[in-house]
Amino acid sequence: MAHVKLHIPGPVEVSAKTFQAMTQPMIGHRGQGFKDLYGRIQPQLQSMLSTQQRIYLSTSSAWGVMEGALTNLCTKKVLNCMCGAFSDKWFDVAKKLGKDAEALQVPWGSPIRAEQIDARLATGQFDALTLIHNETSTGTMSPLDEIAALKKKYPDVMFIVDAVSSLTAFRTASTTWASTSSSPAPRKPSPYPPASPSSSHPRPRSPRPPPSRPVATTSTSSSSRRTRSRT
Ligand SMILES: Cc1ncc(COP(=O)(O)O)c(C=O)c1O
Repeated sequence: MAHVKLHIPGPVEVSAKTFQAMTQPMIGHRGQGFKDLYGRIQPQLQSMLSTQQRIYLSTSSAWGVMEGALTNLCTKKVLNCMCGAFSDKWFDVAKKLGKDAEALQVPWGSPIRAEQIDARLATGQFDALTLIHNETSTGTMSPLDEIAALKKKYPDVMFIVDAVSSLTAFRTASTTWASTSSSPAPRKPSPYPPASPSSSHPRPRSPRPPPSRPVATTSTSSSSRRTRSRT
């Protein structure tokens, strides 16, 4: 197959060393080999994402993680911060999941400001918000550190941050926000084939009713195939 050099936000070029590493034989996903591998890469992922929290890997696309995050983390109402094609789609996804969702829409090309979020969260209506750090469709970056600082004021609101096209490309004070948020994180700027690591709040929210429907996944593991076949 011809080697087409991509000049898009991502996926990006993968090195020969990475390709080589991917030619290893398959291992069982319930075996000790997988447990060892998952444990071994945690410190490296934590270093890459500048967090001490546990990192979860998903083989779904980013939307799979985001749908899972909304399904599991929002029981009351979600504030969707919207400034471009991808962040606007969060609102669409929330509605399709049957969530009570409110749009915080700014013109495409403008960032979302912390004051705008503060004003809406102050109403007390929300238990989750969605935000895209770098809105890939317009190249607009919202001030994540200022927005993350609001977490102290609203500790019970889950900040779900999509950092698909930014996290490994830009350094932020991310230890602060990664420890307080769930963040479907980087895929595009990272020089490896698609996968979706995410870090999450260490404290489980409770009480939490069971999700009204199973979390969508594009994983091809046998356990997820079984989940799908029950639907
Ligand atoms: C900011 C952002 N969020 C979400 C997505 C969707 O990612 P996926 O195609 O892996 O679902 C993209 C893809 O370009 C993106 O740039």
